[in-house]
Amino acid sequence: MTAATMRAVSQDVHGGPEVLHEVELEVPEPGPSQVLVRVRAAGINPTDWKHRATGLFLGDPPYVLGWDVSGVVEAVGIGVTIFEPGDEVFGMLPYPYGAGSFAEYVTAPARSFARKPRALTHVEAGAVPLAALTAWQALVDTARLRSGQRVLVHAAAGGVGHFAVQIAKARGAYVYGTASAGKHEFLRGIGVDEPIDYRETDFAEAVADADVVLDTIGGDTALRSLRVLAAGGTLVTILPVPPEGLLEEARQRGVHAKPMLVEADHAGMAAVAELAESGALRPHVSEVFPLKRIADAHRAGETGRTTGKLVVEAAGS
Ligand SMILES: NC(=O)c1ccc[n+]([C@@H]2O[C@H](COP(=O)([O-])OP(=O)(O)OC[C@H]3O[C@@H](n4cnc5c(N)ncnc54)[C@H](OP(=O)(O)O)[C@@H]3O)[C@@H](O)[C@H]2O)c1
Repeated sequence: MTAATMRAVSQDVHGGPEVLHEVELEVPEPGPSQVLVRVRAAGINPTDWKHRATGLFLGDPPYVLGWDVSGVVEAVGIGVTIFEPGDEVFGMLPYPYGAGSFAEYVTAPARSFARKPRALTHVEAGAVPLAALTAWQALVDTARLRSGQRVLVHAAAGGVGHFAVQIAKARGAYVYGTASAGKHEFLRGIGVDEPIDYRETDFAEAVADADVVLDTIGGDTALRSLRVLAAGGTLVTILPVPPEGLLEEARQRGVHAKPMLVEADHAGMAAVAELAESGALRPHVSEVFPLKRIADAHRAGETGRTTGKLVVEAAGS
């Protein structure tokens, strides 16, 4: 039987990691076309600490953050046909207003989820959804990356970047990736053809005639990335606010610049799940934190130096 209450991590004010605290909440009921999922693991993303600190799209707390989920379907609402209790699933809660996975249970539209790949543990699957969907929607849906094309992935060792590299390789692209030198072996291991040490080398000199750039940094990096594109090429930038003049400069150079926000995407989740099941996409989990130490996960993530993903494991999982 499902418990009546659950532990979750909430906040009452914006601020540093110290504003996060455990609360006891009622376990939500799944509404029509929703499922109730018992959370086993949840990846943490930069948007979690941005929301914690500033509210970003969500405004004023209290709220429970967390968009990544891997877990087990506990109950289904009216009309759900694609899952039943006991199914192992992973997915991204609707971004941005559906957050809440830093808790023992969460409800969301059934089609936020796909079946958890058997090849992945819950901790690994929890690392995947938001970052991999972002990479998929940027490279495949937005830039239409094709076999034989050349792509530059910024922050290729980070959460989004390491999935983007693997998705690009699975589509037959030639991949340049930026990271500090200590991470180049990791980059080669996930498929980067030419790692670039962005601290020592100007990427805008090292890359030319790229078809696609995935910008995970913004600012001057986004602007200078336009220079490496071939005519008609596409820069996808995933920073919420593009730098001033980006779209105009892209127009003048005869290339495209597309600011993108990840969105709920059943087909994208299914595609990511298939890649993970086939072994073409593997998350790199660099550290796992119990839910009660989530503030430490925020502190670690906010250094901006993470390789792959940080994951929070739900209590009792
Ligand atoms: N629009 C959207 O829907 C969306 C979705 C997901 C993420 N995002 C945003 O995208 C950004 C990246 O997210 P993420 O999850 O990938 O972050 P992350 O995992 O925290 O990124 C960490 C990585 O960034 C690298 N890095 C830092 N500065 C760099 C630079 N100047 N050049 C190259 N690499 C650099 C670090 O490598 P080194 O230690 O080697 O520097 C580290 O491996 C965040 O701002 C996030 O909020 C947006």
